[in-house]
Amino acid sequence: MTEERPAYPSLENRTARHRTLQAIGRDGTTTKPASGDCSDRKWPTYWITAASLLEWSDPYERIVDKENEPFYRWFVGGSLNAAENCIDRHLEERKNQVALRWEGKRGERRTYTYYDLYREVSAVAAALRELGVEEDDVVTIYLPKLPELPITMLACARIGALHNVVFAGFSPNALAERMQRLDSHTLVTCDGSSREETVINQKRKADTALASIEESLPTIVVDRLGSSHDMHLGGNQYDYDNLVEAFVGANVPPVPRKATDPLFHIHTSGTTGDPQRMTHATGGYLTGVAWTAQTVFDLMPGTTIWCTAGAGWITGHSYVVYGPLLLGATVVLAEGSLRYPDRYRPWEVIERNGVEVFYTTPGVIRTFMKWGESFPSSHDLSSLRLLGTVGEPISPDTWEWYYTHVGDERCPIVDTWWQTETGRVLISDRPGIDELKPGLVGRPLPGIEIQIVDEDGHELPPGESGYLTIDRPWPSMLAPLEGDRYWVLAEYWQAFSDPRADTWQYFTGDRAVIDDDGYVTILGRDDDVITIGNHRLGTAQLEAAITTVDSVTEAAAVAERTAGETALCVFATLEQGQQDRTAIRNAVADAVAEHVGEFARPTSVVFTPELPETYSGKTMYRLLECIVNDRPPTDSDTLRNPEIVGELTTIWNQE
Ligand code: WTA
Repeated sequence: MTEERPAYPSLENRTARHRTLQAIGRDGTTTKPASGDCSDRKWPTYWITAASLLEWSDPYERIVDKENEPFYRWFVGGSLNAAENCIDRHLEERKNQVALRWEGKRGERRTYTYYDLYREVSAVAAALRELGVEEDDVVTIYLPKLPELPITMLACARIGALHNVVFAGFSPNALAERMQRLDSHTLVTCDGSSREETVINQKRKADTALASIEESLPTIVVDRLGSSHDMHLGGNQYDYDNLVEAFVGANVPPVPRKATDPLFHIHTSGTTGDPQRMTHATGGYLTGVAWTAQTVFDLMPGTTIWCTAGAGWITGHSYVVYGPLLLGATVVLAEGSLRYPDRYRPWEVIERNGVEVFYTTPGVIRTFMKWGESFPSSHDLSSLRLLGTVGEPISPDTWEWYYTHVGDERCPIVDTWWQTETGRVLISDRPGIDELKPGLVGRPLPGIEIQIVDEDGHELPPGESGYLTIDRPWPSMLAPLEGDRYWVLAEYWQAFSDPRADTWQYFTGDRAVIDDDGYVTILGRDDDVITIGNHRLGTAQLEAAITTVDSVTEAAAVAERTAGETALCVFATLEQGQQDRTAIRNAVADAVAEHVGEFARPTSVVFTPELPETYSGKTMYRLLECIVNDRPPTDSDTLRNPEIVGELTTIWNQE
């Protein structure tokens, strides 16, 4: 496809980014060491350039400490504070520059300069201290996309407390579990939020969660709904605005943290297993995030970025809060749904705020496609210069649509592969340097070494699909607490490492293939594999076949197991107005038979208004498997729309 059309555009190379890239090996050709060997000439010294994007209170003595492999420790001996790096150090040069532009659901707009952030973050930090929060205590944040969310995160960082952001859509149970797992000291929430025409009583959910925990946690409540909603504060509950008013002007010097000290906890998405807590360490995390915010997203002071991810997701931590603010950029935060009050909203937000970098998921782009190109084309999107995507494979068609109708064939697209555990992007094209290939995530970033291996851990040649592994540590890698090391070792390091030979290989849980140019295609999670007969089929491969049928917009393939046999079931969503379901059902079955094989022909094809997705946009296969195998659906807490479970069960039972 790339040969038939003019080359995809690149970005002008700007000096700062250029310099960092050069120092790190601009062409990405670092000499590849033997697996796990960190001793080649340049590695790991080029991370010094990345670390120099930060301001250190004390210089580090060692770049990486491998003493306790695979629990690497980065920038040992150094200390720094995340909030100081995101705010204070910008004050001299860009005190009055906008740091955060917020758009509320009801059309409200608020703007914070770096100086505004400094004042409010300091006030909240002082208030947290007053409530007894000390260094290393955990503060749980249960807020929708309000300015108070990043502000509270930074207030925690300022005093060395660890934030634990929990997605505002989670149920009281999920919140309670996430607070308890971390022995949370304090909770920050809000009274409620409006969803389209109704009001979600966030505080009631928080109160239910608090009631199930034995201790009474100090709770700060943001008044989101104002006079339209009565906010009743119980004992040990405090109004956010009153606290800020009481502490504004407080001088709270940032607490220097060791580079190896934790910065925050976050839970993994939980599409395939129970949610687990992850931890990131201050120095390595900030280094990796600042460096990728610069090299992948081309952020500079004043660049306006809108990343649609919620802060409860790692993407929100790294590319809504820390990455952009570390580099002095301007962050756009839009509360609520992209379809409310109407489908023009995303494009209005871009136009009104002069968004330059837009970062979202393939799921969101597919929704835009479904709505049609008339929505983006009715707005002036000329401020955009770079687009990004993350979270799941993007099909070449979706990529082309994004490129043409959002990017006006001008903006490069970075398809960024990474995980909660990796902290920041590891595989992506570098705009301005790499050739873009639709549907492929590009090559590993400089300094990152990957291998595609077979079940025995042998490296596979280009063109053969296998397991995606990473064979060198990287700054911003997971930094589990002592108590988590056992399961972390089993989950990520055991499959392909050889501890006796001292070679450590991180297993991502993904399947992938590389091409002759070293470009990676992600085939999906290893767990998203269905075995039919003796064939292991990736769900992504099956779904690509199913969505070749014109009227099918999205699909999920799952296995139904009866009497030792596995049959393939398909859940699909259709374009609006599609009537002839029998014909489509047959077309889907034929498409699978044609693209994958007759043996895989699905036994059931079921149509649904939407697929069950986690709030981070991933299909929840586990839940569909429960439905087709008559097991009670478990753990629907992480779903964006929990009501879909009942609906799907009914549809399935009617088949
Ligand atoms: C998937 C999200 C294809 C992958 C930052 C990974 C992707 C999991 C991509 C991590 C991409 C992420 N193309 N698949 N560009 N990016 N994934 O922890 O399966 O929520 O392992 O972090 O999402 O999801 P998580």
